Amino acid sequence: MTNLLPQDFQYVARFIHEHSAISLGPNKSYLVEARLGPIARRRGLASLSELVKRLRMGDAKLRDEVIDALTTNETWFFRDHHPFELIRTTLLPELIERRRNQRRLRIWSAACSSGQEPYTLAMLIDEHFPQLSNWDVEIVATDISQEILDRAQEGYYYAHEVSRGLSQSTLRRFFTREGSGWRIKASTRERVRFRKLNLASFWAGLGVMDLILMRNVLIYFDETTRLSIMARVENHMHKDGYLMLGAAETVAQQCDRFERLPHRLTACYQMTPARRQKDASRPGHRPVGL
Ligand SMILES: C[S@@+](CC[C@H](N)C(=O)[O-])C[C@H]1O[C@@H](n2cnc3c(N)ncnc32)[C@H](O)[C@@H]1O
Repeated sequence: MTNLLPQDFQYVARFIHEHSAISLGPNKSYLVEARLGPIARRRGLASLSELVKRLRMGDAKLRDEVIDALTTNETWFFRDHHPFELIRTTLLPELIERRRNQRRLRIWSAACSSGQEPYTLAMLIDEHFPQLSNWDVEIVATDISQEILDRAQEGYYYAHEVSRGLSQSTLRRFFTREGSGWRIKASTRERVRFRKLNLASFWAGLGVMDLILMRNVLIYFDETTRLSIMARVENHMHKDGYLMLGAAETVAQQCDRFERLPHRLTACYQMTPARRQKDASRPGHRPVGL
């Protein structure tokens, strides 16, 4: 397959930014070649220029394939460990106490990839919070890629995926062996509601959350996009809710909406006192559904 021409790279970079907000720096030509080459070969196209030509013509199926190919889906169960420890020992106990009258919790795994993150939350709740069994606990998991959401919904993982982050006892408790892999049990799978959502677009019908995990996705966006996402996060989070980012991520520098909590090794945020004050005029814990 021939190399990507500079003008084709520029078009793909503009295209992916427009459709997913992902910023491809000028040195990412090799990545585009590596990820789009297999699509061109599958389609029997002679060159990447040919593929870009079809993309320019507005082939919708190709558009989705290109977006899927250019997103990075790496994830694993209990990724980074510390955020889930904080959720188990501090965030959920606090939220449970504050919501004991409503008996309702809403958690959002934004950019959930193949489902390990929302299923980790579901397993953690099942294992450590039996008192929530008669609460209305909703875990909403979203991603821009339909292909990866279909995988997540299947709940089927290969041996190398379950060996990353899961203890033997958790594996045996929540999964059943199937072929050469493992399938998450229906009772856990059904706790999670998957839907397609582009973080750079409208979040219609999402509702207001108690805990938001938006991990390892903001790094792909530019500062302007991150700022506009943070503004929308504020609208979709209860004033006493929590926002968890990836370990190496911070909210945009000019963002005065959130403050980082002093928990080591986790990027956990709450609204600043000023924003919480402002938010106090909003109706308490609005039962806004999907
Ligand atoms: C590296 S994975 C992170 C998965 C998980 N949150 C974790 O930390 O393990 C990044 C995910 O972000 C998704 N993504 C990229 N751009 C997106 C966008 N604009 N809207 C929603 N999801 C997006 C990708 O499809 C991918 O599944």
